Amino acid sequence: MSNIFEIKDKELFFDGVQLSTVAKKFGTPCYIYSKNLIEKNFNGYREHLSSENHFICYAVKANPNVAILQILAKIGSGFDVTSQGELNRVLYAGGDPKKIIFSGVGKSESDIKKGLDAKIKCFNVESKYELLLINRIAKTNDIKASISIRVNPNVDANTHPYIATGLKNDKFGVDMREAHGIFKLASELSNIEIMGIACHIGSQIYDIAPFRESLQILMHFVDKLKLDNIHLSHIDIGGGLGTLKEDTNQTNIKEFSKTIMNDCSGRTEKIIIEPGRSIVGNAGVLLMKTEYVKTNGEKNFAIVDAGMNDYLRPALYQAEMEIKSVSPNSAQAKIYDIVGPVCESGDFLGKDRQLPIETGDLLCLCDAGAYGFTMSSNYNSRCRPTEILIVDESLHVIRERETFEDLIKNEKLIEYIN
Ligand SMILES: Cc1ncc(COP(=O)(O)O)c(C=O)c1O
Repeated sequence: MSNIFEIKDKELFFDGVQLSTVAKKFGTPCYIYSKNLIEKNFNGYREHLSSENHFICYAVKANPNVAILQILAKIGSGFDVTSQGELNRVLYAGGDPKKIIFSGVGKSESDIKKGLDAKIKCFNVESKYELLLINRIAKTNDIKASISIRVNPNVDANTHPYIATGLKNDKFGVDMREAHGIFKLASELSNIEIMGIACHIGSQIYDIAPFRESLQILMHFVDKLKLDNIHLSHIDIGGGLGTLKEDTNQTNIKEFSKTIMNDCSGRTEKIIIEPGRSIVGNAGVLLMKTEYVKTNGEKNFAIVDAGMNDYLRPALYQAEMEIKSVSPNSAQAKIYDIVGPVCESGDFLGKDRQLPIETGDLLCLCDAGAYGFTMSSNYNSRCRPTEILIVDESLHVIRERETFEDLIKNEKLIEYIN
């Protein structure tokens, strides 16, 4: 059993590095990622999906830092992007354009042009009008655009409503009842080449059953399309596998991969997956310092220097991440709400946590590698944290801490005429 966290002399280590020394060197709040664990998670998928018949496209939105993309590009990952910003990041980090899938429910004309210019693998199309727009732009450029149609299989992923995407009343994908007509239309358009079918039923899913259910629906649909002489080369089942502690995550990735490949054994279509959080989630932490402890009424609060602007997920959809002490102290463990400095009651990182905390103590929010920094903002004019990557126990700054100059970079004072 390996463990990304270790305690030595009562000090917390992450991927072989003592966290209190990182705080001393780089300050807090600070995101810290493990290159080794990102690679291990990716390789877990690669090992257990069958050799030829799969394609892994890391969902860039989970953590788009260019160094993270570079690591994944180096080990052969494909990428799932949702904007030209993400597409540019992948290209900048050395990703292969032929391994890029462009998802997203509202691609702009300029997103589509950028994707076509870059000669990406395909667009995952989410409506008839998007399909027509892609065809028109491709025609103007005298090229063929490769596409998949993202359908909405109406499968309940049993997850938080804000991260469920595959139910019939969600905004994503094409209604199954209309999908056949859209494939027919696509097959008749002059500048469209149909590659596949796609779906993404939601995120933070721990049960493999909903993935299997959506795969069955898609395979059945693909077989029906054959009767209309529409033959697909891939089936993309999206991302969404939840992130777990290191070894359990590996077991989950293995079980997911083997089950999915088994369910579609004998099929000719390539299976594409778009995992995000299960690759980077447990490979990152948010290190923060306790500014104050106080008791209001019945509640104990630890007010830390990271807020909802740095890590939004608890406020946005009640995500619960483990919070660990970093260094020993002599305080009594009490039940605390760990809250940030932002002027919102929704600004909390964890509720009802039993921890021994004193002013000045460092705390570590676990599993913060996915949808952490990428969702951060400058709300309350707070500078966003630095990001550090651990490569074989050495520390690399992969994003500098923001400064006041960064905050006002694009703002302008007006000129007053006296
Ligand atoms: C289309 C698509 N693919 C993949 C993902 C990645 O999901 P996860 O990070 O839960 O694996 C998302 C997440 O929102 C998505 O919308």
